[in-house]
Amino acid sequence: SAEQQLNNIKITITAGPTREAIDPVRYISNHSSGKMGFALAAAAVAMGADVTLISGPVQLATPIGVKRIDVTTAQQMHDAALAQATQSDIFIGCAAVADYRVAEVAGEKMKKKADSALELKLVQNPDIIASVAALTAKRPFTVGFAAETQNLLQYAKDKLARKKLDLICANDVSGTALGFNSDHNAVTLVWQHGEQALAPQPKAELAKAILQHIYAQFSAN
Ligand code: PMT
Repeated sequence: SAEQQLNNIKITITAGPTREAIDPVRYISNHSSGKMGFALAAAAVAMGADVTLISGPVQLATPIGVKRIDVTTAQQMHDAALAQATQSDIFIGCAAVADYRVAEVAGEKMKKKADSALELKLVQNPDIIASVAALTAKRPFTVGFAAETQNLLQYAKDKLARKKLDLICANDVSGTALGFNSDHNAVTLVWQHGEQALAPQPKAELAKAILQHIYAQFSAN
């Protein structure tokens, strides 16, 4: 049945933000709540999939039937994702991964210096989804998200090509009603030979629609 069309399919999903330490009490992160990735995990289990959810620090309960791996940093998410990816049929990168981390994390709480600005040197984190898509053996069908505040479709198409993804969910995050931390979202799915807009709706409903499209393309591959 349609409900169980992901039977025997293993899906790994990343969700939430990553958190990059500055010192023992401070960090760099973003507004991702994990809701979109957790909704995808719950919908995938309902469709019969075997689901592993790799989550950054969020305040959400694990959907029933989902295997959850908690991580903090982008490097930890990268290592967990690569370990799962080669055992997965489909990989969905919904996490808002920090592109940069602090070059040298201070061992002790940094002290404020009178009358001077502070400069932090940042270095790039590994690109998790590009690493997954670059696998040569046991590469899963690889789906990314693109969170953009401008030039949504162009930037999403650039990421689809540059990261060598099979499908990308272009996510307009310029407002607060949709996207980060909201219970609602809308995306335009973009793949090499087409695109499909999905209307604003609760993340639980949108997750089902996204998975139907992923399954259609995965099984046509
Ligand atoms: O968590 P919520 O509050 O529910 O919000 C959902 C969401 C807006 C976070 C989600 O729908 C979303 O758009 N996730 C992607 C956010 C993001 O970081 O997009 P990006 O355009 O910066 O990254 C593009 C893709 O590369 C993403 O699949 C991302 O997971 C991946 N990436 C990015 C950087 C990096 N170092 N490694 C990655 O794998």
